[in-house]
Amino acid sequence: MKNDRGNFGSKLGIVLATAGSAVGLGNVWRFPFMTGQNGGAAFIIVYLGCILLLGIPGMVSEFIVGRHSQANAARAYATFARGKAWGLVGILGILTSSIILGFYAVVAGWCLQYLGASAMGRLKGDNTFVLNYFQQFSSDPVKPAVLGVVFILITHFVIVRGVKDGIERVSKLLMPLLFILLLIIVVASCSLPGAGKGIEFLLRPDFSKLSSQVFLEALGQAFFSLSLGTACLCTYASYFTRHTNLLQSAGQIAMVDFLIAVLSGLMIFPAAFSVGVLPDSGPSLIFITLPNVFQQAFAFMPALGYVISIMFYALLVFAALTSTISMHEIGTAFFTEELKLKRNRAAWILTIACSVLAVFCSLSVGKADLQVMGRSLMDFCDFLTAQVMLPTGAMLTSILVGWCASKQLVRDEFTNHETSGVKSFYPYYLFCVRYVVPIFILLILMHQFGVI
Ligand code: PHE
Repeated sequence: MKNDRGNFGSKLGIVLATAGSAVGLGNVWRFPFMTGQNGGAAFIIVYLGCILLLGIPGMVSEFIVGRHSQANAARAYATFARGKAWGLVGILGILTSSIILGFYAVVAGWCLQYLGASAMGRLKGDNTFVLNYFQQFSSDPVKPAVLGVVFILITHFVIVRGVKDGIERVSKLLMPLLFILLLIIVVASCSLPGAGKGIEFLLRPDFSKLSSQVFLEALGQAFFSLSLGTACLCTYASYFTRHTNLLQSAGQIAMVDFLIAVLSGLMIFPAAFSVGVLPDSGPSLIFITLPNVFQQAFAFMPALGYVISIMFYALLVFAALTSTISMHEIGTAFFTEELKLKRNRAAWILTIACSVLAVFCSLSVGKADLQVMGRSLMDFCDFLTAQVMLPTGAMLTSILVGWCASKQLVRDEFTNHETSGVKSFYPYYLFCVRYVVPIFILLILMHQFGVI
């Protein structure tokens, strides 16, 4: 069984594929608008704290469970804990990532639309034009829903090609490209007139903006962005080799993820301030500011602006794709192994279920009255996953690894059977996993539900 599961082929492939899962719309789309709505630099500091204290130990824990068990999420948790009930944490992860795939595909579909529109030169016009373009498009009942489903189908076809040829190959090529392009656009954005205010907004903290809400949002964003708490990392770790250094890989992935998020902020905010878009304008931020940046920053050479705009949306689509692949893979691995289905068939189950959710999420954006607890279905799915399900998954994982599993087993996985150079970090890791992660998350969740 183990041999035909597939493995990542190289060390770089492991880091890039897992970073491919982590880096996505969470960094380029969600991080900037969250930062904008929660006060800029102060939010980023809390966010960084969440990554260091909760994110990296949480990632290592998921890696430990997945690599040890070499199985799909549900089975991995049950095997690791030597108790079937823990398999439910894996199932919770599968459910969470499927819900995320449903609403994430809608935004990825918007990116597809913007890719097409920039290729056809349709995004040209003043600020009002660009604003209206987004509003009209996103509230159309048919097109965004169709594009969301198309995105899930593209994911489906990569998934059925398998781990090494599909997931790893795509990630190795796209991740470095995304990084280079981001750098180019950051330079362009920071050189626009009036960009300084945006840079200041991102780099000068105003601590009076900190509130419990900011902590909650930062925590949710950190988990969302690191793909943590969905058992996604656990599934990817099941394709790691025995020699993969788990702490080092988690550190590298978290660093790349944070860097890309901050670069995305540096790409958006200077430009937003320059063209007069409010930093707290929410989920539509990147779809309204960026077309302006491409036009204004490259006004001296429109052809260059045209090419960069196409490349940018293409890469955004790819960054989203490496993430949707990981969300899809968790459920596919589960159905393949547990229901003994062919990979292709198992993948269809997920594709169909998530497509239905994507259509409803898309309809809930400014059209149908699809509201849940006072939020549109799309916002509700985002809230439910980022602020409730992901933290819960991560908390349960750390309780399992820190308190319930065999100590020797955890240590062996962390230190690669005493062979890795990170042995001396083990006591710190254990402290975070036993106390810091569960207590913090519990307090935050209790606050969220009004218990404290
Ligand atoms: N981390 C991904 C991003 O930032 C989103 C994601 C969440 C992927 C959960 C997998 C699981 O875009």
